[in-house]
This record gives sequence, structure tokens and C-alpha cells, in this order.
Amino acid sequence: MSDNIYETDTSTSQYCDFHYGNEYFGVKNFPKNSVELLLPFFKNINTNKVLDLGCSVGRSSFEFSNYFKEVVAIDYSHKFIEVAKNLQEAVQIDYSVTLEGHISEKRSIDLETLGLSENKDKIRFLQGDAQNLDASLNNFDVIFCSNLIDRLQEPRVFLKEIQSRLSENGILVLLSPYTWLEEYTPKQNWLGGYEENKEDIYTLDTLKKELSTLELSKCIDVEFVIKETNRKFQHTISQMSIWTKA
Ligand SMILES: C[S@@+](CC[C@H](N)C(=O)[O-])C[C@H]1O[C@@H](n2cnc3c(N)ncnc32)[C@H](O)[C@@H]1O
Repeated sequence: MSDNIYETDTSTSQYCDFHYGNEYFGVKNFPKNSVELLLPFFKNINTNKVLDLGCSVGRSSFEFSNYFKEVVAIDYSHKFIEVAKNLQEAVQIDYSVTLEGHISEKRSIDLETLGLSENKDKIRFLQGDAQNLDASLNNFDVIFCSNLIDRLQEPRVFLKEIQSRLSENGILVLLSPYTWLEEYTPKQNWLGGYEENKEDIYTLDTLKKELSTLELSKCIDVEFVIKETNRKFQHTISQMSIWTKA
């Protein structure tokens, strides 16, 4: 059995609910809101091709399909990609939301009811590793990495490499709460959240150094809520940083 948390039924249900279920405490749907916050930037770039890396069960990819000619959406989790592909093929997805202990409630979603089916065929969902992308995946007008960098083994290597896959005026969008954890990223590879030579190192400063071919255009705080049980929710503030060609 895989020890990847993103291959479990619990995580799959949680992400189905997070991407397609109810909103809680007045906080907007995170993937939908993240794409909508980018709309002003789409006016200044070509909207041919977007790469959604770490797309999970696919909500942001379906949102992007309304604005781009082609969406390539990649996640490492076979289970998440299977959900996204099934939704795309008009299959109803059933998942369960934990209410308390072992008590759960069944929920069902389908793309048509969610109003997300119009441009679904523009998306290519692929299982794959963001740190080992095929050479043919390049020339993207937007590369969107939502809550991904602090889940990678080697985020520095990833950042160095990903910049070359942008089109001439392409933009890189990173979202992250910078939750560095050794279970995903060896400590020596963290981009921030540690002290070096008596100096506190913050991720945003490291990003500015590592993304040498790009400049920081804007930072936006984007909050999200993930439901764990009826009485336990994760409320997180992700930082969206938008990087344009220098
Ligand atoms: C914290 S979740 C964020 C999911 C989604 N982007 C969102 O914002 O809701 C991290 C996602 O990245 C995926 N992931 C982790 N490592 C990856 C890698 N090396 N390549 C591609 N996807 C990866 C996980 O499977 C998971 O779907």
C-alpha cells in the first residue's frame, strides 16, 4: 500500500469536499477564488495554455478551462487524477464527509450540476511528478502551483527548472501557506521557516532569490477552510505570489 497521504480515501473525500462541496465560515471556495483573483492578469498575457501542477481533484483546472484554450493538469496522486478524469467523463463521484468519529455522511457530485462542464474537454489530466516533467511540457502562459511547493522533496530544484517552461510573457503563480514539514521536504531543502547565521529565513525572500528570471508582481493572501469533522476545520491563509518575466 502507498504511504502517500494523498492516495487515501480520507484525503480523497476531504479534497472532493474542499474543491466541490460547501463553503464554511463565509470563506470562498479556494480553487475557484484563486483562479478568479488572477483574472486581471489574464488581460496582459496570451491565454493559450495553462499548466496546473498539483491539481488534486481538479477544481482549479475546470475553472481555468473557462479562460484558456488548453489546460494541462498534473498531480502525483493516482486517486486524485482518477476523480478528476471521472468528473470530466461525466461520472458521478460519491464521497463521504466525516461528521463525528466513525459516523459519516455520503455526498455526490457531478460536473454538470456544478456548472463546470462547458469547457471540460480542453483539459488533459495526467498523473505525474512536478519534479520530473516531460520535456514537451513547455511554453505555458500560466503555470499555477497551488499549495504545492511545501509538499515537494526538492523545491529549489523545482523552481529553478519550472521557470524555463513559461512562454515569452508567461506568469508563474505560487500559492502556499509555507507549512514546511520534514515528512514532505528534508529540512535542508526548506525555503524558509528556519534560522541561518542568526538570521530568520522567510520563504518569500528565498523565492525572490531563486526565481532569478522573474520578478514579483503581486502578493495576495488567500484563505481556505478544509472540513475534518462537524467540529474540526483547518483554516489556513495561503500566500499567492504572482511572478512575471523580468
Ligand atoms: C496540499 S495539496 C493541494 C492541492 C490543490 N492544488 C489545492 O490547492 O487544493 C498538494 C497536492 O500536490 C500533489 N503533489 C505532491 N507532490 C507532487 C509532485 N511531486 N508532483 C505533482 N503533484 C504533487 C498532491 O498529490 C496534492 O494533490
